[in-house]
Amino acid sequence: MSSTSDCGTTSPYGINTRSTLLTLAQRSVSTPLSQRFQDDPTRAERYSADIGPLFVDYSKHHIDSNILDTLCTLARNRGVAPQLAALRAGAHLNNTENRATNYPSLRLWASKQQSGDSTIDSMYSNMAALVNDIHDGKLRGQTDKVFTDLVNIGIGGSDFGPRLICDALSNQGEPLLKTHFAANIDPSVISEILATVPAETTLFIVASKSFGTQETRSNATTARRWLCSELKCDDVDQHFVAVTSKPESAKTFGIREDLIISVPEWVGGRFSVWSGFGLAVALSAGMENFRAFLHGGYEVDQYVEHSPLESNAPIILGLLDVWYRNAWGISSQAVLPYEHRLKLLPIYLQQLFMESAGKSVSSTGEILQHGTGGVIWGTEGTNGQHSFHQLLHQGSDTIPCDFIACLHTYNPIGEQHQNLIANCFSQSLVLMQGQSAPEIERALISNGMATADAKRLAQHKAILGNRPSTTILMDQLTPKALGALIALYEYRLFAASFVWGINPFDQWGVELGKQISQTLMGALSGNEAPELDSSTAQLIARYKQAQQA
Ligand code: F6P
Repeated sequence: MSSTSDCGTTSPYGINTRSTLLTLAQRSVSTPLSQRFQDDPTRAERYSADIGPLFVDYSKHHIDSNILDTLCTLARNRGVAPQLAALRAGAHLNNTENRATNYPSLRLWASKQQSGDSTIDSMYSNMAALVNDIHDGKLRGQTDKVFTDLVNIGIGGSDFGPRLICDALSNQGEPLLKTHFAANIDPSVISEILATVPAETTLFIVASKSFGTQETRSNATTARRWLCSELKCDDVDQHFVAVTSKPESAKTFGIREDLIISVPEWVGGRFSVWSGFGLAVALSAGMENFRAFLHGGYEVDQYVEHSPLESNAPIILGLLDVWYRNAWGISSQAVLPYEHRLKLLPIYLQQLFMESAGKSVSSTGEILQHGTGGVIWGTEGTNGQHSFHQLLHQGSDTIPCDFIACLHTYNPIGEQHQNLIANCFSQSLVLMQGQSAPEIERALISNGMATADAKRLAQHKAILGNRPSTTILMDQLTPKALGALIALYEYRLFAASFVWGINPFDQWGVELGKQISQTLMGALSGNEAPELDSSTAQLIARYKQAQQA
């Protein structure tokens, strides 16, 4: 446990809460998780919940009723419930950009066909009409052929969400359009895609909330040039649709007005997959599947709104993030989907959590004295077991893990899925239970090893255990279950952020890098000579030299 990243004396937690949390953490570290299970046979049932299509088991965490009570009191003192109610009511919780954050209203449309907000309703009806026109072949390419391929050009929130959902749902019926994603400005990305798609039947989505993002504009310009050259004509307008909050900029860029889906300005990039930015999902998996995805999010909205704080699992997961970060000094978490179709989830969650909670100033502008969002990372199981799980089991740091698995696979082959699940469940068990050196030593000796050798080897093989994890199960990876999963993580983020006192909806930290890259563009092209540190100047000189060679 660290004393540097905990809640400092000027923290909004207040000194009493801070010391209570630290005392509880000190006490709880000496109560092994396995002991907690032995002491309470109802523990698993008590600390798990069904949330729409999800089952969430958070019993393998360092909690008891006393700890949960303290965390819930903290949530009450920090106004988590009123802030969630304000979010639903359309308050401008994104105070630095003066924007609303009413994400549940986007999901409400899925169940009621209307959201109560005409801009949202018209966004979805325009989207549905466009999807229909493309699928029905009313909107065709320049040579009058029906579209077969789709390239989503966008980055960050305009890429991760649609990319994850399209990949996860690519087995839901025949893909209606073969979908590709171009995010990075690295020219290799767009070149590789353009080398594989048929020019006559490829549709491009230019997805950019701001319509000013360098990577996206650059890739879209390259795509249009390529198309004009392939089709030997300048009029390729029907191959480009835009999703944006800046329809005027999209028009200036050359996108036809009737091919622009306008998204309300308040919809933040990393939360935007619920909006018109889900166009790639609706085009590749169908509008009905996109609607089912929204519906999964809606079920979690309903659950969170109507469950008491003490058993409100998505909120409790956020409070656990606070618990580990501020009382235990843990700043890293692993997300481990044991489902190949969720392989992109850790990357998606990286942006969701790290761009939202990577803050050290409160929403009211004070420098914070306590730790906030940590590092999120991970990969699909079982691949991680043959890579970084060594560190999870025996490394010097405790890293809470999320295990995510489906009870049914879409590809039942022999016992493969059962094996996958056995691996998933065994990893959380071993993290929790570990195996002591004496126990290993006894086993080695009974297998015939000499006592001295057994003693020595047992030290290396021993696993401390006592490492926490959450397990999230769903019956099958349906569009609805996926929507519920993403919404669950959003609420977890909101709960932790509201306790930390930060604004999870802005991302000012990325701006300076964008500005400096513009300055360095000038330096690299030789048009400008900005004053630079000797290291950066040297790197630029090397690049320029290489171009001349
Ligand atoms: O650079 C960060 C960011 O602003 C993200 O928040 C956003 O998702 C991404 O860039 C893309 O922005 P846009 O959709 O405006 O192109």
